[in-house]
Order: sequence, then C-alpha cells, then structure tokens
Amino acid sequence: MGDHEQGMSYGDDENTHAPADVDLSRPSIARVYDFLLGGKENLEIDRRAANRFLNVVPEAAQIARDNREFLRRALRFLVGEAGIRQVIDVGSGLPTAGNVHELAHEIAPDVRVVYVDNDPVVLAHGRALLDRDQITTIIRADLRKPETIFEHEDSTKLIDFSQPYAMLLGGILHHLFDKEDPYGATAHIVERLVPGSYLLVSNFLDDDEPRAKAAERAFMDSGLRRGRFRTWAEQRRFFEGLELVEPGFVYVNDWRPDERTSTEDAVRTLHAGGIGRKV
Ligand SMILES: C[S@@+](CC[C@H](N)C(=O)[O-])C[C@H]1O[C@@H](n2cnc3c(N)ncnc32)[C@H](O)[C@@H]1O
Repeated sequence: MGDHEQGMSYGDDENTHAPADVDLSRPSIARVYDFLLGGKENLEIDRRAANRFLNVVPEAAQIARDNREFLRRALRFLVGEAGIRQVIDVGSGLPTAGNVHELAHEIAPDVRVVYVDNDPVVLAHGRALLDRDQITTIIRADLRKPETIFEHEDSTKLIDFSQPYAMLLGGILHHLFDKEDPYGATAHIVERLVPGSYLLVSNFLDDDEPRAKAAERAFMDSGLRRGRFRTWAEQRRFFEGLELVEPGFVYVNDWRPDERTSTEDAVRTLHAGGIGRKV
C-alpha cells in the first residue's frame, strides 16, 4: 500500500468519498492512527481526537512509528527465521508505509496475508489496493467475534488453518473493554492455532508510565471512546497456552531492537509487545 493516492480518497473534509455506512461525525481509530503516522486519510475530527491524546503524550506519533517498527522486526522473525508463510493481521488499519504484506514479501514473496478490520473505510482502501493481488486479501470482521475471522470464506480460501500461521494483534486489544472479553477472544485464537503457529500482541501499557491513566482518559474523552490500557500482568494473560519467543513480552523497543530502533523515546514504557508460539 504506501500510496495514499490509491484507493478511496477523502479529498477535502467537505467532499468525502467514504462508504455510506461510515459515521463521519465521529473520529475513527484507523484514521487517528493514520494521522499519527503522517498519512492523509484523516479528517478534522480525527486530527482533533489525536490532539487530545497529543496534549497528554506529545510523543504519541513516535509510539505509532515504534509500533510499526516492532511489526517490521516481528515479520523478519516470523517469516525470515520461523518460516511462516501465512499471516492474519487483525486490526490492520489504513494503508501506510511498510504494510505487512509488503514487508513479508520482501523476505518471501509467497507469504499469504489476510488483513482484517471492522472499519469499512479500511476495507474500502484495502480492496482498492489489493484488487489484483492473488495472495493478499482484506476482510471485514470483528475481533470481538473471532470465529468470524476464521470462518470468513476469503480467509478459508487463502489460509490453510491446518498449517502454521501467524496471527497479528498489533495495537488493537487496548481498544477492547473488559466487558467485550478480549481474554476470551485471544483464548479462542490460541485454542485454534496449530502447533508451530504464532500470536503477536502489542498494546499500550498501564504500569510504568505516570501518564498512562491520563492517556487512557484522553482516548475515552476524544470521541474515540475506546481505551483500556492494561498492566503487564493483565496483558500476559493474552499469551496463556503459548510459549513466549525471546526476549518475551517487553517494551516494544526492547523486542529484538536493530539499528532503526528508537532509543530516545521518552514514552517507551507506555508500549509493550511480544510473540507467543503454540507448541
Ligand atoms: C491502532 S490501529 C493498529 C494498526 C496496526 N495493526 C498496527 O499495529 O500498526 C487499530 C486498528 O484496529 C481496528 N479495530 C479496532 N477494534 C476492532 C475490532 N473489534 N475488530 C477488528 N478491528 C478492530 C481499527 O479499525 C484500527 O484500524
């Protein structure tokens, strides 16, 4: 993806080409994240929401970039070292520089990728971009009903669920409230993973960073109304039934850092990630 001219465009805020079922009076998680990553597929309402968050955590754009860098290093491990050839990226977000399928294909061109998001805008962009791609697709499904991801006919067409695959949950579980049962969703996923498969999780963390509570409140007050920052102990539950890959569940910038990993990040303690393996 990476080319913001492709796919559906908003033009300016007055003249949008968003799908009919999109509520443009509210910010969306995907468009706020796009703004933080320097993308163009966002509206004034999204930028206002992002600014609520930036007021509390001025380094928020760096956190978003760190998360994308974590995904890049994780794919290097999953595809390059662990030999994974099937990836499901849940909560994939809007196209950005260095999309999962592009990163994976740089290492192995035969990796099959299914993008999953519940935002119709993400779906419209993804469909336009992946139109002629035979081994990458995007589906609309909801992590709160994980079976819809496994049972979608486009997933079953592309993914052989009897063979190892990687499930990516990057920056999504902190948008699910406890009452929406995120632990049930990950338990369902872990249960279905065949041995040799992997689960990646990255999330905001509420333990070591004094601004975490205020940052979570900013999410809630911004119009996104979706924020639940969890502690280390809470988040370790997402990996129950899996063996953590080295170096474990850590601040994302401590996960196999390389020469591109930021070391001067003032809010590195707000953001944790890891990969578990089904044995
Ligand atoms: C912050 S973005 C993360 C993008 C990307 N995974 C990353 O790590 O860089 C979160 C994405 O999750 C999607 N999302 C939020 N709740 C979801 C749900 N219940 N089911 C599917 N997607 C969801 C949002 O629409 C958004 O595109």
